[in-house]
Order: sequence, then C-alpha cells, then structure tokens
Amino acid sequence: MNSERSEVSRFGLDPEKMPRHVAIIMDGNGRWARKKLMNRVKGHERGVQTVRDITRACRQLGIPFLTLYAFSTENWQRPAREVSALMSLLVRFLRSETPELMAKGIRLNAIGQLDRLPDKVRHTLDEAIRQTAQNESLTLTLALSYGGRAELVRMVRLLAAGVSQGRIDPEQIDEAMVAGHLYTAGMPDPDILIRTSGEMRISNFLLWQIAYTELFVTPTLWPDFNQQELISILQDFQTRERRFGKVET
Ligand code: IPE
Ligand code: IPE
Ligand code: MG
Repeated sequence: MNSERSEVSRFGLDPEKMPRHVAIIMDGNGRWARKKLMNRVKGHERGVQTVRDITRACRQLGIPFLTLYAFSTENWQRPAREVSALMSLLVRFLRSETPELMAKGIRLNAIGQLDRLPDKVRHTLDEAIRQTAQNESLTLTLALSYGGRAELVRMVRLLAAGVSQGRIDPEQIDEAMVAGHLYTAGMPDPDILIRTSGEMRISNFLLWQIAYTELFVTPTLWPDFNQQELISILQDFQTRERRFGKVET
C-alpha cells in the first residue's frame, strides 16, 4: 500500500472512491474578520493559512486536482483598498509558498482573465507557474479574476474564430470541443464543490464544469475551515450515489 492509500484509510476513507478534483469557493473572510472586530483584510490574511492547510491535506490524500476560487471578475468592483490588499497578499503568498510547492511536488496553475492582474502579480504568478510546471503530485489551480460566464464567452469567441477561418466545421462542435476551449481544458470536471460560509449560490464559478459535481455548503467561514472538515465532506461524498442521470445499477 502506498503512503497516500494508507493516509486515506487512516481517515476511514475508501481509496477506491476518492475524488479526482475538489473545487472550493473560499468565502467568508470578511465576516470572519468582522466577527473579531478586525479589518476585512485580516480575514484574507488568515484565509491564506487555510489555503496552505487544505493544499497540504489534498496532497497527502492523493487528490490530484484542487481548484480554489480566489478572486472573481466581480470582485474587481470591491473598494480599491481591498483589491490592492488582496493583490499584495497574492504576491506574498506566491513568493513564500513556491519553495514548499517545489518540495511537495505541487504544480501551480491559474485560470481566469489573468491579463487584468497588475503586472507585479502577473509576473510573480507566471514565475511560480513556470518553476512548478514539472511537478506531478497535485495541480493547485487558482481561479483569479475568474468568471464562469467570461470563460464561456471566451470559448465561444475561440470557436467562432475557428469557424470563420474555416478551421472548424460547426457540425464538429461537440461537448468535448467546448470543454477543450475552456481554461480548464485537460482537467477532469470537479467531483466535489465546497462553498464555505453558508451562501447557497455558485457566484459565477465553473458554470460548465459543475454539471454533475456533488455540492457541499458549510456554514464554516473560510479562515475556520480545516482538514478535519474536509475529511468529513469526503466521507459524506463517499456515501453519495452519483447517478449521472442513469438509474441505480
Ligand atoms: C472570500 O471572502 C474571499 C474573496 C472573495 C476574495 P469574502 O471577502 O467574500 O468574505 P465575506 O463573504 O465578505 O465574508
Ligand atoms: C465568491 O465570493 C468569489 C470568491 C470566493 C473568490 P463572493 O463573496 O465574491 O460572492 P458573493 O458576492 O457572495 O456572491
Ligand atoms: Mg463573500
């Protein structure tokens, strides 16, 4: 038994029923800070620690893909102070974590309108992605300046350009071709989507990809989310019967 399988069994999980892809809407940093009478930015800072813990946990459990919603296209409309604090935090995170990503064999990836990120963020991000490109234990994807609708618009434009240039026959367009023109091309769809802090909505995350994803909403605020709660979600996931529209076999 390899170490991941024994790790999985240690938590009472079935190694045969582990998800390949976990996606998380990391919400509730602001509320966490407000509850403690602190500035919202403190909540984001504390949220970074949870990112570390959950990334480590997923790698230990042998989950190959973890996708974290870190900043939405709509989040650009937050006060400039908060946006710039988030961008600085991101730069600090990328710089401080790259050595651990290397040590643990974690590949960093990013999806979203990355050209809208400030130059410094963009460069630090590109550098971390480049450095970790050959790593194979876990692909950690940060959704940054990401919007599901914007992703779909981009896909339509790419396909339309292909059609107008005569490279694509409209009759050829199928689900696989659509999926192949999304930011997530080549990644499996999420098996699990977790949203922290209780909101029962998708907030423009991975609209196409979550068609058959199992949803988990927890009232826990993101800075308080931890490995133990992730494990209990995984245990719950393993009891669910995924029918994909078919009848029970
Ligand atoms: C999630 O926490 C982090 C980002 C959206 C960047 P929020 O900042 O949305 O926290 P709440 O929802 O206001 O509590
Ligand atoms: C979703 O959280 C986006 C991220 C977690 C990055 P929001 O806090 O922006 O979503 P709404 O405003 O509650 O829908
Ligand atoms: Mg929020």
